[in-house]
Amino acid sequence: MGSAKTTKPPNKPNAPTLEEVLAVKHYTDKTFSFSVTRPASFRFRSGEFIMLGLMGEIKGKIKPILRAYSVASPSWDDKLDFYSIKVDDGPLTSKLQHIKVGDHVLLGRKPVGTLICDAVLKGKRLFLFSTGTGIAPFASLIRDPEVYEKYDQIILTHTCREIGELEYGYEIVEAARKDPLLCDILGDDFGKRLHHIPTVTREDFPLKGRITDLMENGELWEHVPGGAIKPEHDRAMICGSMDMTMDTKALMEKFGLKEGSVSRPGTFVIEKAFVG
Ligand code: A2P
Repeated sequence: MGSAKTTKPPNKPNAPTLEEVLAVKHYTDKTFSFSVTRPASFRFRSGEFIMLGLMGEIKGKIKPILRAYSVASPSWDDKLDFYSIKVDDGPLTSKLQHIKVGDHVLLGRKPVGTLICDAVLKGKRLFLFSTGTGIAPFASLIRDPEVYEKYDQIILTHTCREIGELEYGYEIVEAARKDPLLCDILGDDFGKRLHHIPTVTREDFPLKGRITDLMENGELWEHVPGGAIKPEHDRAMICGSMDMTMDTKALMEKFGLKEGSVSRPGTFVIEKAFVG
């Protein structure tokens, strides 16, 4: 078993900071979440990602091993949450999966990414399409009041191979709906505007199938208030594997949506989910 201890951060001005692990939760043998301290100077926009990791040995030398991680907590939160895959022979996650409260991780200083409110035009409905750990940036966005100020309805889809992998999604949606800050700003029943649509591909489940197939065969729209995507007032964000991202992007274009970026907002944006 690899050690998850990180004792010595790199000694350079732009080097990652050393942050303390505050909580760890294991969901399945493939996924876990963790929270770390947030440096006072760390600013990010909900939906962005950051480099995160541990010191480790690469070819006999001790170096930082960093991977891109979407921040799964909203920009107003005091701590930073992350949701990670576990890859047993992965250079980082084989060790990171063993972190414990009180351990330390390396946190980059420069958050970036396109899954942010600023990159998508205002609209009536915002679709958040995710698979696997690709739900992480949306865990941040569904707890950001700006999202509810910009869009009337938020439709979060989460597709996993197995039912057990959906648990994180149920948890973050429930936490968002009960969030005291959001209830205070948006009213106690704002949660009715957040629609969670889990789907499973490799086990029996009420809504079974890839999100792309469910859109193409029309089954998805039976579960979405307002039905199929209309480019005049619908917007979308996509986060999953490279294949899922590309296939869902092609579908958005078929619906008449146009890809945007931070410098040129559009009607949908994409980011592939990162392997930790
Ligand atoms: P499937 O079980 O049919 O492969 P992965 O762990 O491989 O990233 O997959 C996570 C989820 O994303 C799975 O339910 C998987 O379905 C689905 N998926 C994989 N590739 C695509 C794709 N190209 N388009 C839509 N969904 C996909």
